[in-house]
Parts: sequence; structure tokens; C-alpha cells
Amino acid sequence: MTVVFLCVFLVFRPVVCGGGGGGEISGRQELDALLQDYAFRALVRPRTGTVYDGSPPADLAGIQVSALRLRSGSLWRRGFSDYKEFRIPVNVEVHPYVERLVFVYQNLGNWSSLYYNLSGYTMLSPILGLLAYNGSNISSEGLQNLRIRASGSPISVSFAGLPSVFDRPSTRCAYFSLNGSVEFSVVVNASTCLTDNQGHFSIVVSESSPVVPPRPSTRPPRSGRGGDREGEWTLVGSLIGGVALVAASAVAISYLVACRKRKELRRMEAAAEVGVPLSMTSVGSTRAPVALETRTRPLIENEFVP
Ligand SMILES: *[C@@H]1O[C@H](CO)[C@@H](O)[C@H](O)[C@H]1NC(C)=O
Ligand SMILES: *[C@@H]1O[C@H](CO)[C@@H](O)[C@H](O)[C@H]1NC(C)=O
Ligand SMILES: *[C@@H]1O[C@H](CO)[C@@H](O)[C@H](O)[C@H]1NC(C)=O
Ligand SMILES: *[C@@H]1O[C@H](CO)[C@@H](O)[C@H](O)[C@H]1NC(C)=O
Ligand SMILES: *[C@@H]1O[C@H](CO)[C@@H](O)[C@H](O)[C@H]1NC(C)=O
Ligand SMILES: *[C@@H]1O[C@H](CO)[C@@H](O)[C@H](O)[C@H]1NC(C)=O
Repeated sequence: MTVVFLCVFLVFRPVVCGGGGGGEISGRQELDALLQDYAFRALVRPRTGTVYDGSPPADLAGIQVSALRLRSGSLWRRGFSDYKEFRIPVNVEVHPYVERLVFVYQNLGNWSSLYYNLSGYTMLSPILGLLAYNGSNISSEGLQNLRIRASGSPISVSFAGLPSVFDRPSTRCAYFSLNGSVEFSVVVNASTCLTDNQGHFSIVVSESSPVVPPRPSTRPPRSGRGGDREGEWTLVGSLIGGVALVAASAVAISYLVACRKRKELRRMEAAAEVGVPLSMTSVGSTRAPVALETRTRPLIENEFVP
């Protein structure tokens, strides 16, 4: 029963539940592209070295974006010490070379766990993002990320307003790179993460960590619709499994019945040889004894009929 159910479920699950991880990454990339666009719109006659806050559309309410345009030379020599929660040190390399670049800042707020949940971990902070783009033409569209690397001191991200009741030693920085990999590192100064790269950051605590206090439902409920759909599909899975099971049983039973019938015929053939001669006739691929006139010819009512 369980096996049939599992087979059916495994066959159907990938189809109905969409590709899993791959979809997640592309969802993030789409969000990044969208937020890049809204951040760049805030750059109207921008001054270099000034932070401009963008306004995402109403259907992304709760997300904050900003844009900061810098000359590459100035970034290398001076860094930028106060870009929201980020502190960008000197000696950040940019590849390929651009004359100006724009750092887009994201705070995903209550959307964080929708795009960046980590199974086995609880996020204690929203997702903060820092992404670098070519800033030479702020009207251009579909920009790719530049590559950056802090070659001296690391870039730091200081998370404010972390919940105070949790076991600090068990917290970790989670770094989500643009290619989808996740890396963990230690939290410094109680609430700061260090990195040499761009990407998305959060402070997390393992759910198996022993000292986590009774969580006052900090974890937002999993998207209700998604959960319900999964429930529905589980139901559909069990229904299909049930039908498959009934069908399999039917096949098995009819096979057994056919076997018994064949045995019975063989017994009658054997009897014909020793007792009253019964004339034989062919029904399907089976020879069957036939009594002359007195009886109706045997008809086998299943798959043996040609
Ligand atoms: C986030 O909060 C805003 C209100 O501040 C709300 O409009 C929006 O629907 C929320 N988004 C999610 C994903 O919960
Ligand atoms: C994120 O959540 C979705 C649905 O809530 C789930 O399908 C997915 O596996 C989760 N991803 C991770 C990395 O936990
Ligand atoms: C940056 O943008 C400018 C203006 O659109 C373009 O001329 C230049 O080739 C771009 N540089 C890179 C590395 O994409
Ligand atoms: C900047 O990009 C826009 C849109 O792609 C294009 O129309 C415009 O000519 C570009 N400007 C420069 C100076 O390259
Ligand atoms: C993804 O990016 C991380 C950090 O930049 C890097 O360490 C890792 O090798 C990359 N993985 C792939 C598959 O490119
Ligand atoms: C940690 O805090 C101290 C004192 O506030 C500060 O001087 C130091 O720069 C901080 N370190 C990091 C990596 O933020």
C-alpha cells in the first residue's frame, strides 16, 4: 500500500510542486532585477556619494531599496562607511572596470522568508542585500551584476534590533551568494556579519539549537495558499494511489481466477482420457472438452476468447 502510494506520489510530486530549488533561485533573480529597476528610478540627476531611497510598488510593500552611485576610483580609495547597515571599506575591487557603479541596497522586511527561507534555521533578522551594478548609464535596463571583492578589510553588515532573548553563541551569519550558494560564518560584535562579496545576508539560529527560548511565533506562517495546495495534492496523491491499488488487486484476482479455470480444464481433459470420451474443441488457445449435443459449448468469458 505504502509502496504504491509512494510511487504515485513521487511520480506526480515534481510535476505539481514545480522544480524546487531552481525555481527558488530564479525567483530571487527576478526580484533582484525588479528591485534594481526601482532603486535606479530614485537616481534622478544623482550626486555621487549620496544615498537615494527608492519606492517599490504597492504590491511589494514592506521592501526597502536604495541606490548609491560612486566612482570606482573613489570607492577604492575611500570606501563608503555608512550605507544603511553596510560599511564598505577601502580597497574594494570591481570587475570588469566601470567608471561609475551603483550599489543597490535591499531590505526585504516581511518578504525575507518568502524568498530566503533556510530549512532548519530561524531567521532573526530581515534579509539585507548589497548588489553592485554598472552605474555609467543609469537609464540602461537589464543590467548584470558586476563582480566585487573586498581585498583589504571585509565589508560589514550590522543588524539592528535583533530579538534580545536568544542564545547568542548559537547565532550565525547566513550569506546567500548570487549563484545560490549559502555560507555560514560567525557573528561578530553580537550583531555584525563580515563578507568580502556582494549578496544577501541575515542572522539565523539553528532550530535544533538547544537554548532557543519558546519562540513567540517569530516564524511567519508558511504561505497559506502553498500549504493548502500541498495538502490538496497529498489528497489527490492518496486517491490516485488508492485507485492504482484497486486496479492492481483486480488484475491479480483475475489472474488467479484464470489460473484456477485453466487447472479445472486440464483436470477435465485428464478425466476425458480415462472415462466417457468427450470430444475436444478449441476455445481460444485452450482445448476444452465438449459433450455432444447435450451441453452448451464451454465459452470462457475472459481474455482467452480470441
Ligand atoms: C508586508 O507588510 C505590508 C504592510 O506593511 C503588507 O502590505 C504586505 O502584504 C506584507 N507582505 C507579506 C509578504 O507579508
Ligand atoms: C522554502 O519554503 C518553501 C515553501 O514554504 C519550500 O518549498 C522550500 O523547500 C523552502 N526552502 C528552503 C531552502 O527551506
Ligand atoms: C557600462 O555602461 C556603459 C554605458 O552604458 C557602457 O559603455 C560600458 O561598456 C558598460 N561597462 C560594462 C563593463 O558593462
Ligand atoms: C543609456 O541607456 C539608454 C537605454 O538603454 C539608451 O537609450 C541611452 O542612449 C544610453 N545612454 C548612453 C549615454 O549610453
Ligand atoms: C558561488 O559563489 C560563492 C561565493 O561567491 C563561491 O564560493 C562558490 O564557489 C560559487 N559556486 C558556484 C557553483 O559558482
Ligand atoms: C565591534 O565593536 C567595536 C566597538 O564598538 C568597534 O570598534 C569595532 O569596529 C566593531 N567591529 C566590527 C567588525 O564591526
